[in-house]
Amino acid sequence: MKPVRLDRFLGNLGYGSRREIAILARQGRIRLGDKILREADAKIGLEEATALLVDREPIDPLPGFVVMMHKPVGVTCSHKEAGPLVFSLLPERWRRRDPAVSTVGRLDKETSGLLLLTDNGALLHKIISPKAEIAKTYRVTLARDLRGDEATIFESGALMLESEDKPLLPAKLEVLGPREVLVTIVEGRYHQVRRMFAAVGNHVEGLCRLRIGGLSLPADLAPGEWSVLSVAQVELVFSVT
Ligand code: URA
Repeated sequence: MKPVRLDRFLGNLGYGSRREIAILARQGRIRLGDKILREADAKIGLEEATALLVDREPIDPLPGFVVMMHKPVGVTCSHKEAGPLVFSLLPERWRRRDPAVSTVGRLDKETSGLLLLTDNGALLHKIISPKAEIAKTYRVTLARDLRGDEATIFESGALMLESEDKPLLPAKLEVLGPREVLVTIVEGRYHQVRRMFAAVGNHVEGLCRLRIGGLSLPADLAPGEWSVLSVAQVELVFSVT
């Protein structure tokens, strides 16, 4: 990170306008360790940025961060669907960040599980790019018992979804019970898993994403909870397992 003005840096993290940050500084509410920063035009480098405190609290994640959330059922990833947005589960200030925080792909309103969010556009595109073929694993609860031929059909690379003209890439199905399976796909087509089961005469009643690449949804991350990923955790997304 090139050194930037304190007011610009904190402004882009959503702490307020330049004027508001100048007031915070004058009030002695911005610190670098023990030192009070009273000048809003002070230059801040990466080392200093990590040590900044506002109102004695460590500052929000620096630009380029990734969050994993356990998305609950009932919240949406986009304004196109009605209902509360996943962003409402994150700190309010994050909505004023520039660059903005976006979801890495989408989960349907009725789907739960592992959802990534980031302000790093290049990373976001690297993860969702069809070329990356990053595996995503879902736990699926079905309305009807399996017929028995689903794994073969999904693996064939010939399954055509309704109103599409290109077959799906091979997907893996692991049976956990007559109505409970794990499905691993490497694409991200619209409502893909639900439509795959519709194509074999079944209906998805419950869908939860458990894994993206080598990154798993932690058992202790409850629906609605989130955590900022370490660099090593982000790398796991790209590790083939
Ligand atoms: N497939 C679906 O049908 N829905 C999702 O949310 C994700 C994958």
